[in-house]
Amino acid sequence: MNPAAPSSGDLLAMPVADEALSARLAERMKVVERALAGHIRSRAPFVTDAASHLMEAGGKRFRPLLVLLAAETGSHPDTDEVVTAACVVELTHLASLYHDDVMDEAALRRGAESANARWDNHVAILTGDFLFSKSSELTAELGADAVRIQARTFTRLVEGQIQETVKPGADDDPLEHYLDVVAGKTGSLIATSARYGARFGGATPEIEEALASYGDMVGTAFQLSDDILDVASDSVVSGKTPGTDLREGVPTLPVLMAKVSSRPEDARLLQLLDSDLSDDDLHAEALALLRSHPAMRQARDYVVSRAQEAKSLLAALPHGPVREALENFADLVATRTT
Ligand code: IPE
Ligand code: IPE
Ligand code: MG
Ligand code: MG
Repeated sequence: MNPAAPSSGDLLAMPVADEALSARLAERMKVVERALAGHIRSRAPFVTDAASHLMEAGGKRFRPLLVLLAAETGSHPDTDEVVTAACVVELTHLASLYHDDVMDEAALRRGAESANARWDNHVAILTGDFLFSKSSELTAELGADAVRIQARTFTRLVEGQIQETVKPGADDDPLEHYLDVVAGKTGSLIATSARYGARFGGATPEIEEALASYGDMVGTAFQLSDDILDVASDSVVSGKTPGTDLREGVPTLPVLMAKVSSRPEDARLLQLLDSDLSDDDLHAEALALLRSHPAMRQARDYVVSRAQEAKSLLAALPHGPVREALENFADLVATRTT
């Protein structure tokens, strides 16, 4: 083998140490990719263009990959239903990104112009709706139970997004409120990805439940990491504009942790965090102070503890390459830089 050639593992959003498993997943991802390209075609060429814009811009394809990997715990991981389930979760995710960028007034997504920036809010919202309906149509092929699961997942995702825009009440704990938002808007779909994989791959109900709980926790850690990266990373690496949450006044984990600080040197940061950060200079100052604040380390440690918890939920799975890949993935989510 040419050592300079990328291994199949490099094509995947998570490192899979076992070569045979890695190669199989990479092949299956190609099938998913081809299917996705077909599903976003519309009778109206403009809709196809708008829907393929972000699909082709990139993305880690982490959710469909989790479907494929979870399916490996079952007796028939290679069925068409597994591929369909993988498409369902990616299309749902992609649709939510079109809508999210409208809500967050984001200009950059997957290293490309967001749909709202490239066209306008109407196009972005309707393209998101189109992708949601495509996803629902496909889910119907998986049967009534899958439709019910997908509908509940979507409800939780939307509730999470709505709750994020509603500030916690006077009696609510801000951290609890935030964790609830995160579990809803991101944990729910990642839990369903793991559940669908197990279910359509033919795993036992016990394994399906374990994987759904794992997905919920790993999905929460994934969003917490994303929120830390929103502060710490630059747009070349993330493909998104840093500091979007700060600008939008969405208090995420590092902000919530910094806010409970009583260090006298934090007075300026606390004042900024309570003010309107739509001004570029104030925004840059707050971002710089937050980046060097100990709350960043504290937030990262918290995510690592969540990832540990996710791994402990895999106890029902037999030891082997699949479990190992899921464990490594939880570790990667906690320390990821993209
Ligand atoms: C972005 O998800 C939105 C979150 C839930 C954090 P991803 O980080 O999976 O985005 P893509 O699909 O790789 O672009
Ligand atoms: C996105 O949350 C969650 C969903 C799209 C459901 P964020 O607003 O934190 O995600 P990014 O940072 O824009 O990807
Ligand atoms: Mg956003
Ligand atoms: Mg958002």
